[in-house]
Amino acid sequence: MENAIETKGLCVSYGSQKVLENISYGFKKNKITAILGSSGCGKTTLLHALNNLISEDENVQISGDIRLEEDSIYDMLPEVLRKKVGLVFQMPVVFPMSIYKNMSYALSYHGLNSKQDIDDIIEEKLILAGLYEEVKDKLKKSALKLSGGQKQRLCIARALTIEPRVLLLDEPCSALDIDNTLIIENLLMRLKESITIIIVTHNIAQAKRIGDEIITMKSGNLSEGISL
Ligand SMILES: Nc1ncnc2c1ncn2[C@@H]1O[C@H](COP(=O)(O)OP(=O)(O)OP(=O)(O)O)[C@@H](O)[C@H]1O
Ligand SMILES: [Mg+2]
Repeated sequence: MENAIETKGLCVSYGSQKVLENISYGFKKNKITAILGSSGCGKTTLLHALNNLISEDENVQISGDIRLEEDSIYDMLPEVLRKKVGLVFQMPVVFPMSIYKNMSYALSYHGLNSKQDIDDIIEEKLILAGLYEEVKDKLKKSALKLSGGQKQRLCIARALTIEPRVLLLDEPCSALDIDNTLIIENLLMRLKESITIIIVTHNIAQAKRIGDEIITMKSGNLSEGISL
């Protein structure tokens, strides 16, 4: 089975605190890998390592390698890497602007100018995220007015606009009720046909429902399956 992204001997420390210790793991292409583990064990650190967001922290030391398909992520420009590896944060961080601008932001940043093309992509990704019907008549309204579940779906739709190959999600359902949780789970199950998904969750039932692979982190190490 082909790996979409693979860590090799990955170690991460913040100052003198070792957080990830020698992690070598291949995340399988077009599968959902669920990462479980107790609070503070390094799950967010691992996700942020995978799109090299942690290197922005001046206090951090990283060794080992991470390969996206065949290429080391450390040989890629951050903007190129983050176009290929999208990240959705634990708390939905909508930009304080309209729903439309939230969705067009990355497209404009990456140089897409045609309004028709931008509109088409926005519609397609909002449909994919199961949000289009709820927001199609208020795209120019502030995204801050959406509910928590709608904001989280907007963040996922926004992450999809750049067509990532890998989508990292950090506890995307932790603040949601069961209805919104199931909407997002169904969305992820549909998305994995075209995208590799790595999701951190505290919820074992969720990991079992949607995870093709389940791994558990314990004090900086990974093991396969559920071992809490
Ligand atoms: N930027 C940072 N600087 C220093 N230490 C950090 C930083 N980020 C995380 N840590 C520490 O690294 C360890 C792992 O943190 P991390 O956020 O990866 O855990 P987590 O498994 O995601 O926890 P949670 O389930 O609570 O979100 C913790 O001890 C945390 O205090
Ligand atoms: Mg975390």
